[in-house]
Amino acid sequence: MKGNFPIERFSGIETPFYYYDSELLRKTLNTINDEAGKHENFCVHYAVKANANPRVLNIICQAGLGADCVSGGEIEACIKAGFAPSKIVYAGVGKSDWEINLGLDHDIFCFNVESIAELEVINELAQAKGKVARVAFRINPNVGAHTHANITTGLAENKFGIAMDQMEEAIAEAERMENVSFVGLHFHIGSQILDMGDFEALCNRINELQDQLERHHIKVENINVGGGLGISYDHPNREPIPDFKSYFSTYATKLKLRPGQKLHFELGRAVVAQMGSLITRTLYVKQGTAKQFAIVDAGMTDLIRPALYQAYHKIENISSDLPCETYDVVGPICESSDVFAKAIDINKTRRGDLIALRSAGAYGEIMASQYNCRKLPKGYITEDL
Ligand code: LLP
Repeated sequence: MKGNFPIERFSGIETPFYYYDSELLRKTLNTINDEAGKHENFCVHYAVKANANPRVLNIICQAGLGADCVSGGEIEACIKAGFAPSKIVYAGVGKSDWEINLGLDHDIFCFNVESIAELEVINELAQAKGKVARVAFRINPNVGAHTHANITTGLAENKFGIAMDQMEEAIAEAERMENVSFVGLHFHIGSQILDMGDFEALCNRINELQDQLERHHIKVENINVGGGLGISYDHPNREPIPDFKSYFSTYATKLKLRPGQKLHFELGRAVVAQMGSLITRTLYVKQGTAKQFAIVDAGMTDLIRPALYQAYHKIENISSDLPCETYDVVGPICESSDVFAKAIDINKTRRGDLIALRSAGAYGEIMASQYNCRKLPKGYITEDL
């Protein structure tokens, strides 16, 4: 089974490009709203780092999600796309002064603070503007996730967040400062997580921390559990929409929210991965001594995930129904890691065929580079074609 592509509308478009299926994006957003809406006080933010294409951002904004930003550039992109600043959270270990000032000028909902040194700078910059910045502390929960080492973030040795044993000191520090106001705790354990047990482990840890804070009469208005819900890279056609039901109900049943407390989520990949494909063309088929190569016009500059994380993206020849043959699908970049897949079976390909690399809506276009002086790939949603 192959994906559904408006292939006749692809003919005039220069490859490689990203194609975003806006109908699937809208269905995914409806599912998120339905499933999260079953639980009181759940607020879903979209992690903009996954895909900041303006058309995509606009659809997500219209669905009512908030935004999770990690840079001034992302804050600007969200404001432009129509997100209300009161729904923007801003995280990141290294926020520059101009980025903090931008957040202050827009009165964003909250800064997710990752060190006491950063808290001091936010307090100073807010004071200079006569403002009070809302801050949440990102706590490193020391909870591992069963995912790729490069995308686990919640272990003690990661650079992210404040250690659990420094949490109370950080809160006390914020309470002493006049231009910051402590509004919550933030966590994130990693990405592409499919085992609900990992999220359950995070809930257990948060329950312990909340008990500890309650003993010291510290009130927390907001809990933010980050993102991380994974998708099926193996079966994008069978499983186009991730299991939001299990995800949200895990938090609803395992996390002990206090009365009035809001629970925030920052989902990136699960929102946008399956609606996107990188569309490329076969340039040449080269017969090697023991294998054959399909050399395509997209490379690791357009989609770096296979080279960087050994990630698998399903590949389909959407121009042909000829019997399958086995290929290494490779790009044109001068790097031996510029390989999308080795020894995969796709319909026999010839020069000019369109090839789709599936599940590429998240961390695809946004991670593209111009290495080798290449052009950045463009992204089109269905209505643009
Ligand atoms: N919140 C925080 C604090 C994060 O660091 C991240 C992702 C998210 C939310 C969204 O996570 P998601 O729901 O997308 O899993 N480039 C890598 C993924 C890096 C994720 C970084 N942080 C990849 O291509 O797999």
